[in-house]
Amino acid sequence: MDLFPLARPALRFIEPERAHRLTIAALKTGLGPRQRKADPASLAVDLFGLHFSNPVGIAAGFDKNGEVPDAMLAMGMGFAEVGTVTPRPQAGNPRPRVFRLEAERAIVNRLGFNNEGHGALKRRLEARRGRKGIVGVNIGANKDAADRVADYEAGIAAFENLASYFTVNISSPNTPGLRALQSRGELEGLIARVLKARKTAVPILLKIAPDLTASELADIAAVALDMKLDGLIVSNTTIQREGLVSGPHAHEVGGLSGRPLFALSTQVLRDVYRLTDGKIPIVGVGGIADGADAYAKIRAGASLVQLYSALTYEGPALVARIKRDLAEALARDGFMRIADAVGVDARGG
Ligand code: FNR
Repeated sequence: MDLFPLARPALRFIEPERAHRLTIAALKTGLGPRQRKADPASLAVDLFGLHFSNPVGIAAGFDKNGEVPDAMLAMGMGFAEVGTVTPRPQAGNPRPRVFRLEAERAIVNRLGFNNEGHGALKRRLEARRGRKGIVGVNIGANKDAADRVADYEAGIAAFENLASYFTVNISSPNTPGLRALQSRGELEGLIARVLKARKTAVPILLKIAPDLTASELADIAAVALDMKLDGLIVSNTTIQREGLVSGPHAHEVGGLSGRPLFALSTQVLRDVYRLTDGKIPIVGVGGIADGADAYAKIRAGASLVQLYSALTYEGPALVARIKRDLAEALARDGFMRIADAVGVDARGG
């Protein structure tokens, strides 16, 4: 019985947030789609001291409260990122706040870190402790935090022994002022405190926006190298619309994701790969909808990839398709493994 409604066309006619809640509820039954075949050896990635059987992960925001990481792993994802989670529960912005741009295979959201807070996520992750699978925790700050950096420190403290890795999310466009943390001075202060809060060797990645200037990107690359960040995630949603989308909902305030984000986020990924000399692993996110997109991200400098929007349009079968096509593309171009293809389009030039 197919209890998994992501793929059902009917969901398209349901208000997007409601459709999402139904999807999570269906996945929570544990009867969601399962990948039965083992991943081909060419798709394995060893990074951050972790072994990924394939490089395709579910991006943050799909499972903000950590309700279904194991269902996403069972679906064939190589890793699952839960969150963004903030210390205290938060309602987020008024509805409607998620919009489908159907023709453009895009989404605009201005959720504003709606989530159940550290406590609820902690209980869920504790309940799955000891299970296999890479589960990263994406941490953020409450909208009304007096000291935002302290919220990130609290995230590290709360999940240090539960997270396979952390993502420090300072790139959501939906919490006023948050993205200012990406400027050099603020970023150095934030990273210094976050790294100090870490008591173990758990990897810490920084997730950035695709809307940064060349000099801001250069600053972030320099800080990442100097302060020895474990990785970068490129990118979050964009606040740009110009030349990307038109039509109904295009000008809703919020972050744009999905197909129209692909070129922009891949360009920023390539820039960051070059600016960091390929020395910092990058997770490529933004507009991936097929194996060729995932492969292009890897060739632009990504060691791993994530996606969200395309899954809502294509359904869970997308994961197996991407992996199959990615393995084929690697073989066609004579690469034995993902690592051999990372950044080949970013070198020289
Ligand atoms: C997101 N994204 C996101 N990112 C993040 O770091 N924390 C979050 O809480 C969320 N929430 C969120 C909600 C919704 C509805 C969407 C569509 C997206 C951004 C997401 O992780 C990813 O970076 C972008 O969506 C780009 O990837 P796709 O969707 O184009 O594959």
